[in-house]
Amino acid sequence: MVVPQWLPMKEEKETKYTLNLVNGVYQMHKQEEEATNELIRTFESRDDDVFVCTFCKSGTTWVQQIITLLLNNGEQGEKNYTSVVPWMESLLFTPSANQPRGPGRDHEAKGWTLEKIKSNPERRFFKSHANLKQLPVGTAKGVKVIYVARNPKDVSVSLYHHVRNKQRDVFDGDESDMIRCFVKGRCENGSWFNHVLEWWEAAQADPEHVLFLHYENLLKDREGSIRKIAQFAGIEHTPETIAKTIQASTIDAMRQNAKVNTRPGENHFRKGGAGGWRDVYTVRESEAFDQIYMEQMEGTGLKMDFGE
Ligand code: A3P
Repeated sequence: MVVPQWLPMKEEKETKYTLNLVNGVYQMHKQEEEATNELIRTFESRDDDVFVCTFCKSGTTWVQQIITLLLNNGEQGEKNYTSVVPWMESLLFTPSANQPRGPGRDHEAKGWTLEKIKSNPERRFFKSHANLKQLPVGTAKGVKVIYVARNPKDVSVSLYHHVRNKQRDVFDGDESDMIRCFVKGRCENGSWFNHVLEWWEAAQADPEHVLFLHYENLLKDREGSIRKIAQFAGIEHTPETIAKTIQASTIDAMRQNAKVNTRPGENHFRKGGAGGWRDVYTVRESEAFDQIYMEQMEGTGLKMDFGE
């Protein structure tokens, strides 16, 4: 990838952005490669396991909440999205300077440990930010993946706010620095292009097992998208369940729901929507980004929706 020289360069220094390399991909949290590979090698998947996979900041929590609601007739119930759809990798985190709290941080995978997940008698759903080959899918043939992709310009802006709000010590740049890091793949989950395109190819090759959704389509057609998720995951549903799920999964409903918005100070439900990047990217940044975007996406057939 050739990064145009005039893509935002703040002074000569590289922006500080503290990350951990896990199997060649940058991650925010420290995760031992040995434990990661062991899980990939040995995870005993089941035919009805479903993974919600995303590049970070692409609507993961939204789809976790949709599944939580669909499984409970459209009602919030006692459980929240992190316990119904636990984050697989968070079970592997080890304490680090970035995240001193350590393994299985209980706000990310409430109450879950790898052992408990293995013996869970109920149907299992997981969240993951893994690249295609890093997902511990095991050998069960029926495992399904719901992949959610969001246009990369909005992802980069969302990621900037994410690190500024949640991980202040990790990143010392401004929004332009984040754009530069993002296009180079020097950010959480590595290269957006690699991540999305790998999963896009997988969905093209095996649509029965990989459902590729666009965040922007979820916004435009909530009902159709939620039905698609329910049908793909094989969750029985009535029209009433769908209607209630639509209501309880809007960004406002999630923001106001204390079971969902457990740490309002972190502003996870910041803005949402499509096209917010237009208030952030300069014309030059946008043009430089488009040039790289066109190079990377050429011939793939994948088109992202950059919002109004
Ligand atoms: P912004 O930072 O642009 O507001 P993730 O859960 O993958 O970390 O993604 C977080 C992004 O999804 C945030 O984007 C957040 O506002 C947005 N989001 C969360 N819930 C949403 C919802 N119900 N509808 C639309 N966007 C939502």
